Amino acid sequence: MEASLPLVLLLACTAGATFRFASYYADHMVLQKEPYRAIIWGFGDSGSNVMLRLSKNRSVMTKMAQIEENSEIWKIILDPVPQGGPYTIKVHQYIKEDVSNMTLEDVYFGDVWICSGQSNMEMTVSQVFNASKELEKASNYPLVRVFSAALIQSGVELQDLGGISLLWSIPTARNLGHGDFSYFSAVCWLFGQYLFEKLKYPIGLINTSWGGTPVEAWSSKQALKECGLTEYIERSPPSYLDAGPREVSVLWNAMIHPFVNMTIQGVIWYQGEANTLMNTDLYNCTFPALIEDWRKAFHEGSDGQTNRYFPFGFVQLCTNRHVEINDKFPRIRWHQTADYGYVPNKRMPNTFMAVTIDLGDSESPYGSIHPRDKRTVAYRLHLGALAIAYGERSITFQGPYPQKVQVNETHRLLNITFEEHIQLRHRDNNTFEVCCSENGTCSWKPASIVSSSSHSVTLQNAACSNGIGGLRYAWSEWPCDYKLCPIYNLQALPAPPFITFSHSNPAWIGL
Ligand SMILES: *[C@@H]1O[C@H](CO)[C@@H](O)[C@H](O)[C@H]1NC(C)=O
Ligand SMILES: *[C@@H]1O[C@H](CO)[C@@H](O)[C@H](O)[C@H]1NC(C)=O
Ligand SMILES: *[C@@H]1O[C@H](CO)[C@@H](O)[C@H](O)[C@H]1NC(C)=O
Ligand SMILES: *[C@@H]1O[C@H](CO)[C@@H](O)[C@H](O)[C@H]1NC(C)=O
Ligand SMILES: *[C@@H]1O[C@H](CO)[C@@H](O)[C@H](O)[C@H]1NC(C)=O
Ligand SMILES: *[C@@H]1O[C@H](CO)[C@@H](O)[C@H](O)[C@H]1NC(C)=O
Ligand SMILES: *[C@@H]1O[C@H](CO)[C@@H](O)[C@H](O)[C@H]1NC(C)=O
Ligand SMILES: *[C@@H]1O[C@H](CO)[C@@H](O)[C@H](O)[C@H]1NC(C)=O
Ligand SMILES: *[C@@H]1O[C@H](CO)[C@@H](O)[C@H](O)[C@H]1NC(C)=O
Ligand SMILES: *[C@@H]1O[C@H](CO)[C@@H](O)[C@H](O)[C@H]1NC(C)=O
Repeated sequence: MEASLPLVLLLACTAGATFRFASYYADHMVLQKEPYRAIIWGFGDSGSNVMLRLSKNRSVMTKMAQIEENSEIWKIILDPVPQGGPYTIKVHQYIKEDVSNMTLEDVYFGDVWICSGQSNMEMTVSQVFNASKELEKASNYPLVRVFSAALIQSGVELQDLGGISLLWSIPTARNLGHGDFSYFSAVCWLFGQYLFEKLKYPIGLINTSWGGTPVEAWSSKQALKECGLTEYIERSPPSYLDAGPREVSVLWNAMIHPFVNMTIQGVIWYQGEANTLMNTDLYNCTFPALIEDWRKAFHEGSDGQTNRYFPFGFVQLCTNRHVEINDKFPRIRWHQTADYGYVPNKRMPNTFMAVTIDLGDSESPYGSIHPRDKRTVAYRLHLGALAIAYGERSITFQGPYPQKVQVNETHRLLNITFEEHIQLRHRDNNTFEVCCSENGTCSWKPASIVSSSSHSVTLQNAACSNGIGGLRYAWSEWPCDYKLCPIYNLQALPAPPFITFSHSNPAWIGL
């Protein structure tokens, strides 16, 4: 039954010139489904009344709002709507005797994910392995809808987006391949595709990312203050980083803050390369602080509709160059986990991670910093989403992590025990390294894998004469050949890199 229109016919006055939706509400969009309440907001004339009607052939819901005398913003919080569609949303504004209306067509309810980060998030479907096949398949997923913000920076927090690259669209080969590093993001798209295949309901994907940008640009001033960062020191980036803005908060302000007023399911993030060049050892603070800050802002901005601890997934850095001495990649990878080595953990609740140290691509025409196997990245990431965001607790989304390190000093043997069943895929002599204590400091020496069982590997290092003080795994910029790290689990997920010291870790047991 149609609800009857309220009668708001007062004195004659001007027309509703400013009446519009916020920029990211458009035809073909996906709004967040139940149990959350989607929010729709926009601009209008001070003092007017606004009525929204959601309908699917017939009216489903009618909501009213008022624009305050000193405001130009209306906002409507819908009742929870189950997955499905297509819906039509009609909004009327009544001011004096003037009525204006506007409509959104082909709107679905499902899960909305924001995808953000640097150029590895920006890489498009047309740039990845099997691109033509991936593009061809696009039209098989008409209920995965895509939206891309434009590249804008701002010194102050913007209320609405300053520009849009791709309005909400039904995926087509064209919409997914607008040229290199242009919409639409391959990691975001393939992640959404995997989710759709599993969940069988609409998925809305929002890409808002920019190549060569450090975490500081995506963080609010408040988040940076938590880490003692107040000002930015300009440093010229190497050419491979095709750098976007690096000033503090400018992308938070223009490309994230405008979204905090909509209800979302979660975020995925692929960033960190730029922080191998600046504030590397602050990343164990800045990254967890960004997550906490975004969660708080989206929760508050949506009047509590977006989960305060919404799922946050991220890609651990892949590889760049075959260099021995530079340990900035492993440090960022470690800091991406707040120095735990795995997620979720105490400092990073409700997070999930895709390990990608084994997906290097030195032949990539876009430079080896831009590996082309994004399908495996998205596959690993979606396993984390299923476990963390969709409650499939039995799903393993991370490779094996060591439980115990036993040292047999007399024979310079280390026995590393894993809780999970492991698969030794590559028996090598240098992915594991031991810290030989020398004059009170560490000298890292390769350790050979000499044997293994279903739950353990045994290493040997013959050269460590003064005792073994630590152990690290995959601690280099390019630790493994393609899908050929030493340790995987039975689901073919690689063990994440780790570093551990005997003096600070109770998992070490001397023999
Ligand atoms: C409801 O609307 C959709 C499109 O909006 C249309 O495809 C469908 O046939 C309609 N169903 C009925 C029962 O009218
Ligand atoms: C919506 O506005 C258009 C003109 O902009 C008008 O023709 C139409 O009747 C209006 N619809 C309703 C339901 O008010
Ligand atoms: C992602 O979004 C940025 C701006 O947010 C846009 O410029 C870029 O083209 C988009 N890239 C992809 C791959 O979607
Ligand atoms: C971050 O890492 C650095 C370098 O390893 C360390 O000194 C610092 O204590 C760590 N900070 C946090 C918050 O974990
Ligand atoms: C959006 O969120 C910000 C930050 O919480 C808040 O100040 C603003 O009023 C919100 N706008 C709307 C339309 O809800
Ligand atoms: C590319 O397609 C082939 C054939 O379907 C498949 O075996 C391979 O795994 C695909 N590669 C990637 C990276 O998706
Ligand atoms: C390593 O430890 C595991 C479990 O603690 C044990 O089963 C295995 O026999 C040990 N291997 C060696 C070589 O000591
Ligand atoms: C590791 O060292 C052993 C003994 O020197 C050698 O036989 C083996 O080929 C090496 N493995 C690799 C992967 O290099
Ligand atoms: C440790 O000290 C000895 C003797 O002073 C010196 O020969 C050796 O090079 C030092 N080793 C390191 C790693 O500094
Ligand atoms: C140390 O390793 C050697 C050689 O494998 C073995 O014979 C010995 O029993 C081990 N010692 C301990 C305390 O496990």
